[in-house]
Order: sequence, then C-alpha cells, then structure tokens
Amino acid sequence: MPWIQLRLQANEETAEKYSDWLSAAGAQAVTFIDAQDTPIYEPLPGDEVIYWANTVVMGLFDAAHDMDKVISYLKSIHPDKAEMAYKLEQLEDKDWEREWMDNFHPMKFGERLWICPSWREVPDPEAVNVMLDPGLAFGTGTHPTTALCLTWLDGLDLTGKTVVDFGCGSGILSLAALKLGAKKVIGIDIDPQALQASLENAKRNGCEDRLELYLPKDQPSLKADVVVANILAGPLKELAPTIIEFVGDNGLLALSGVLENQAPELQTIYGQWCAMDPIQVQDEWVRLSGVRS
Ligand SMILES: C[S@@+](CC[C@H](N)C(=O)[O-])C[C@H]1O[C@@H](n2cnc3c(N)ncnc32)[C@H](O)[C@@H]1O
Repeated sequence: MPWIQLRLQANEETAEKYSDWLSAAGAQAVTFIDAQDTPIYEPLPGDEVIYWANTVVMGLFDAAHDMDKVISYLKSIHPDKAEMAYKLEQLEDKDWEREWMDNFHPMKFGERLWICPSWREVPDPEAVNVMLDPGLAFGTGTHPTTALCLTWLDGLDLTGKTVVDFGCGSGILSLAALKLGAKKVIGIDIDPQALQASLENAKRNGCEDRLELYLPKDQPSLKADVVVANILAGPLKELAPTIIEFVGDNGLLALSGVLENQAPELQTIYGQWCAMDPIQVQDEWVRLSGVRS
C-alpha cells in the first residue's frame, strides 16, 4: 500500500502534543526522530520519555487520506498557524516488512559467535549460532551496547560457568553465554515481556532448561562467575551494590548502556570492588569490564 508521511518540526515541549494531534488526524503510526541524530535509548519503565530539543514528529497516513483536511485540522489547533513547519512526503509503494527483513542479516561478534535471523541461511554451521528474530524486547545485536557485550562474552571461556544477565531483554546475551558453553544463566529483567521473550528465544535455541528468569523482586541471591549488565548508566549507578553482589570472587563483570562521558564515574564506582579494564568504545557507547578482587 502506498503511504504519505507528514513530518512536523517540534521540540521537547511540543513533541508529545503533536503526536496526539497526528493520531487524532488519522495517522496509522507516529514516530519521533531527532533532527540532529542524538542517540535514543529506551526509557525505564515508569520514566518520562525524554524528547530531543529538535525533534521531528512523523505521522504515517494511507495515501488515500485527505491530507488537505489533515493540514487544515493541524493548523486550526496549532498555536502558530502560519508558522507550522511541516513537510509531506510520498513514500514509495514497497513491501516494507519484506524490505526490513531483507536488511536484517546474520551478524558475527568476536571469533565464534553469530546472531542469525530465522529467515536467513546460517553462514557458518560450525560456529556458535544463536537464532534470534527481532521482537518486542530490546536486543537483536544491532545496537552497539549489545554488540559490545556479545564480543566480550565471545572472548571468554564460559565452559561450565554460571552467568548473570542483568537486564536480559530479548535474552540475547543469556543465549550467547549458554551457546558459548555456560552451565547456567540467570536472566533478570524489570519487564515481564522481556522475560517472556527470553524464554521463547531460549526454547527456539533449545537452551530453556539452563536459563532461569526472574523479575528483580524475585531474584535469587547467588555468586556467579560472570555478570553482564546492559542497562543505562543511571540504573548501573543506583544498582551497583545489587549488581556487584552477584559477582563471585575473581568473577568477571561487564557493564554496557553507558555513554562515553558517563564512563569515568562508573569506573570509579565499580572500581571500589573490581580491578577495572580500560573501557572499550563502539560509536559513542562504551563497555566497562573488570575482575572482582
Ligand atoms: C538495553 S536493554 C538490554 C537487553 C539485552 N541484555 C541486550 O544486551 O541487548 C536493557 C534491559 O534492561 C531492563 N532493565 C532496565 N532497568 C532494569 C532494572 N532496574 N532491573 C532489571 N532490568 C532492568 C529493561 O527492561 C531492558 O530489557
């Protein structure tokens, strides 16, 4: 089906309001992009969504929609009628789902590990292959924060090890650890949907009997050989005492979801308990790691 996209220039105060207006005008989907390409990260449950200072709100309309009416409607409620900055774009008639699937390829991390979508041929059947399709929970391998953790896990000898995956999302790191030889993984997430996604993905990979999943309120107390936490700098800071409790003596720890300018503070906090390695950077994201001393 052909589509028309209406782009409205907004800012952090107006973005939410414009999104409501576009939905009320009949948009089938509304998305936000940052005009300056600042990275977005998912908000924590219960947190307010932070919009960029220079946001574009985009409404997707079926091409048969009367866009003159939409524009008149928006102008009728816009405080600066004449000044309302917008752009209409005709989107090519493509099978968008097909196009998206065509663009999602198996990805290799480190020396041995591949994340493979189910509709593609596995490039190396002898490699460590995690079968994973994008779903509702975060974690496909395309985000640098996940990639940094996958590469780290690939570089470890996980044979027989117990691993904690704090903020497991889709379960991508848990599954990678299990396929790389871990005896058991404990996945923890604040979002029940993430736990469900992790379980389903574990079943697809035949690993569900070695994966335990918990909401934070039910998390067990244990010492793991390896702990990985890809959440945001804020929770990594707040939850430092909780996360560190999972790391056994000489256990390994990796933290991700941290921007470069947030790394020094976290290095200091976790440096209280661990001998920290130099940080690893991918795009503007960093991974911190260390050994509990
Ligand atoms: C960036 S995703 C990481 C997903 C996956 N581990 C990966 O590396 O791609 C962060 C996950 O942490 C979860 N999360 C956020 N805050 C949390 C908290 N305080 N306790 C447990 N999980 C949390 C979110 O629900 C989300 O699934």
